[in-house]
Amino acid sequence: IPSIEYVDRIDLKGKVAVVIDVLRATSVIITALSNGAKEVVATTEIDETFKLKNNNSIIGGERKALKINGFDLSNSPLEYQENIVRGKRVILNTTNGTKAINKCSDGAYVFIGGIINGKAVSKKIAEIGKDVVFVCSGTDGKFSLDDYICAGKIIYNLLEIKNGELEDLAATAYMAYRDNKGDLFSYVKMASHYKYMISIGLEEDIEYCFQEDIVDIVPEVKNGKII
Ligand code: MLT
Repeated sequence: IPSIEYVDRIDLKGKVAVVIDVLRATSVIITALSNGAKEVVATTEIDETFKLKNNNSIIGGERKALKINGFDLSNSPLEYQENIVRGKRVILNTTNGTKAINKCSDGAYVFIGGIINGKAVSKKIAEIGKDVVFVCSGTDGKFSLDDYICAGKIIYNLLEIKNGELEDLAATAYMAYRDNKGDLFSYVKMASHYKYMISIGLEEDIEYCFQEDIVDIVPEVKNGKII
């Protein structure tokens, strides 16, 4: 039974969690691992991120969607190219996404989802066959359309593989995706984080994060690392 929950009221015991921050933390993690990063560590604090840095690691992240002073990379998935991340440990700190990941340690399985790997995520959760909670990172504690439509896409892809009941919020996300697939980019234009990203020149990142199923991997959080 899929449901959608917000990070501050989640109960994940015995369930599968899929953490979503389409713009952009989970899209960065999926991209870095698919381009050969050894692992990703999601941190909650900036200080902690600096402390974890060593010769074989890259530190990346954002505040107000801009690179943090002293970090190697920002939170743009386009920066996590193979020649930069291959074999490296990526330590990522973002405003909402990495915090959401760290709140999900109770899940029986914790996966990292995005629009870029949505179909692969749906196959994985269909195989496991447990109830699944889509944990939407949101923006500063608020609902965000981009995470919601991504949850809707994964639910839609899941129902193509396997029948199941949906909780009401999951059903509305499913319908939002069903009625907008083919033009997700127009849908996301109403999102507040979309408008902010456009205002600081990050349209290319949004275009990248909204491409469906260009990546086939499903990152999993295990023992504090994402692999
Ligand atoms: C976040 O974690 O809040 C985001 O990924 C923000 C962003 O860089 O777009």
